[in-house]
Amino acid sequence: MSKYTAKQIHLVSRPSGMPSQENFKLLEVELPVPQQGEVLVKNHYMSVDPYMRGRMRENAVYAEAYALNAVMYGGAVGEVLESADDSLQLGDIVANGAAWQDKFVAKANTMSKLVPFDAKQLSLYLGTLGMPGFTSYVGLLKFGEPKPGETVFVSAASGAVGANVCQIAKLKGCKVIGSVGSDAKAKWLLEECGVDAVINYKTCGDLSKALAAAAPDGVDVYFENVGGDHLQAALNVMNPFGRIAACGMIASYNNAEPAAGPNNLMLIVGKKIRINGFIVFDHDDMREEFLAEMIPWIQDGKIKSRETVVEGIENAVDAFLGLFSGNNFGKMIVKFD
Ligand SMILES: NC(=O)c1ccc[n+]([C@@H]2O[C@H](COP(=O)([O-])OP(=O)(O)OC[C@H]3O[C@@H](n4cnc5c(N)ncnc54)[C@H](OP(=O)(O)O)[C@@H]3O)[C@@H](O)[C@H]2O)c1
Repeated sequence: MSKYTAKQIHLVSRPSGMPSQENFKLLEVELPVPQQGEVLVKNHYMSVDPYMRGRMRENAVYAEAYALNAVMYGGAVGEVLESADDSLQLGDIVANGAAWQDKFVAKANTMSKLVPFDAKQLSLYLGTLGMPGFTSYVGLLKFGEPKPGETVFVSAASGAVGANVCQIAKLKGCKVIGSVGSDAKAKWLLEECGVDAVINYKTCGDLSKALAAAAPDGVDVYFENVGGDHLQAALNVMNPFGRIAACGMIASYNNAEPAAGPNNLMLIVGKKIRINGFIVFDHDDMREEFLAEMIPWIQDGKIKSRETVVEGIENAVDAFLGLFSGNNFGKMIVKFD
């Protein structure tokens, strides 16, 4: 055994409906000494993401289900503490798939060495420069295909994915309308991110009417993060030949039973709307192009990032659960000491 122990969060039962603390267990385990080809890493930050809820189901839809009584996993950024592989040295910063644990031993070739353009912002590699930022870029540009002057509607607009979608769409010359669950989030999008109009879906009353009022020329691209009433409203207001980039439908992730769908799906036919579901992991061919655009946008202050940082692995489950009640403002990050 090495001199290190690790704290890990295991899934111990599969949630039905909204998960609770009882579905998870925090354990402390001894770590082995890294063998040839392996490294021992201390994570600094881990990501909690809505898709992890799907992995807690026995029949996960597109990502493999988490095993019961085993540590969960996901995106994290850490630092090499011990190395038995020539490709990584002590102190190297690595992006890895070993979230939900503060330290771990794994093959060096399962992680990528980062040369952060700003070492103070390592957590950006879990947000704007990481999976959610890349999702925004792929979904909007490849599947939304926005053209200058068009109107883009974004749900969960201040979140990890949504905030980048809004800002990229503005950079591409579009009018952008966001939907969020609080006035503070709306204010940030309007004042800091240059979004043209924001709807607070919790207080606006009829969402279709609010969207129609915010989009007098109709909606050409809908970036779908929420589903349900948001999809219904978008279909009502979309223009002919509109495109929907179907990224996620968080409103339904904790449903124990399937919820009623939108009752206006026939509009897809009449308006000749194209709906593209997509999963970011299928689009690695766009990663280079994404980083080549995104890093300068961040450096030039054209893309702003917000984070909600929760301290300590002990609070990681709460951070995850908070995604479903909008506790995060921007990317939800868990920081380890
Ligand atoms: N297809 C892919 O490859 C891919 C990759 C990454 C993420 N995604 C999807 O993208 C979406 C956004 O993910 P994210 O990581 O950026 O999360 P996020 O937006 O940072 O966090 C989730 C947000 O969703 C909103 N929300 C939660 N429950 C809601 C409900 N019932 N109705 C309306 N809004 C609700 C909350 O914001 P408010 O306070 O505004 O309500 C919350 O802050 C999710 O659907 C996720 O599954 C897909």
